[in-house]
Amino acid sequence: MIILNEKTEIQARLETWRRDGERIGVAPTMGALHEGHLSLIDALKSRCDRVVATIFVNPLQFAPSEDFSTYPRDMEGDLAQLRERGCDAVFAPDREALFPNDFSTTVSVGDLRENHCALTRPQFFDGVATIVAKFLMILRPDAAVFGEKDYQQLQVIRRMARDLDMGIEIIGAPIIREPDGLAMSSRNAYLSHDERRAAPALFKTLTWAARESQASKLAWSNITAQAEQRLTRAGYSSLEYFNLVDANTLEVLESPRDEARILAAAWIGKTRLIDNIAVAPL
Ligand code: PAJ
Repeated sequence: MIILNEKTEIQARLETWRRDGERIGVAPTMGALHEGHLSLIDALKSRCDRVVATIFVNPLQFAPSEDFSTYPRDMEGDLAQLRERGCDAVFAPDREALFPNDFSTTVSVGDLRENHCALTRPQFFDGVATIVAKFLMILRPDAAVFGEKDYQQLQVIRRMARDLDMGIEIIGAPIIREPDGLAMSSRNAYLSHDERRAAPALFKTLTWAARESQASKLAWSNITAQAEQRLTRAGYSSLEYFNLVDANTLEVLESPRDEARILAAAWIGKTRLIDNIAVAPL
């Protein structure tokens, strides 16, 4: 596995692969890798000839009050896991190489960046879209993969790639969970023992709500109210949002329809967890 920090070096390597007619796939990450990230490598390996991971904790997507400086970092462990999974190359640039002092462009993806997670993290999706656009411009892959775990992020990136005619296939990969249902996340490391025991209630509540929204005649507002009660009873401190949405536009719905999804964010103590589930017609 090749590990490169310089843009020109990784570009030269990808150019040799491209010249040989190889299909290149990219998995952007912020490191502290777990099985959820590694599943993205598997998804690319079955579709591409060469797999590239990027590791970069992106300052643009953190607000000043957020955890940029304490975000978990483990470059050695990450590289060992990627090597073992059969990743061909890792691009791990320095901040200075990506952001000259007069860096001044922002990619902003319309209404998809305004709802749900964006209400409490207004900087987040512009930061994500801008860094992902940069990586896709630097690497020019045939495909890039993103997890459904961050469902709003996936839709923002799909829309950006389409609107800007990037000509890159955006692949959505299923959510990888712990055996008790908790969606894997680098931020799960922040949970105390008791919080970790309470955490699976988010997925349990989503599963309940998805079924209830189809099977019963309960209004969605009623389901949301009950979901909040279930979460607080389980040990969550607060529910940030619990929205039934159109799976493509993320427009808020009053009742389920084909291709609906429930998106949720909730706090346990100082940790914010997100998760989502498809509402499959019964
Ligand atoms: P990060 O949180 O490191 O996640 C990198 C990729 O792994 C994202 O596409 C995310 O959706 C996916 N992922 C994380 N946990 C997952 C799980 N349990 N199951 C499936 N996929 C999972 O998301 C980011 O980084 C950043 O915003 C990034 C896109 C790299 C831009 O900085």
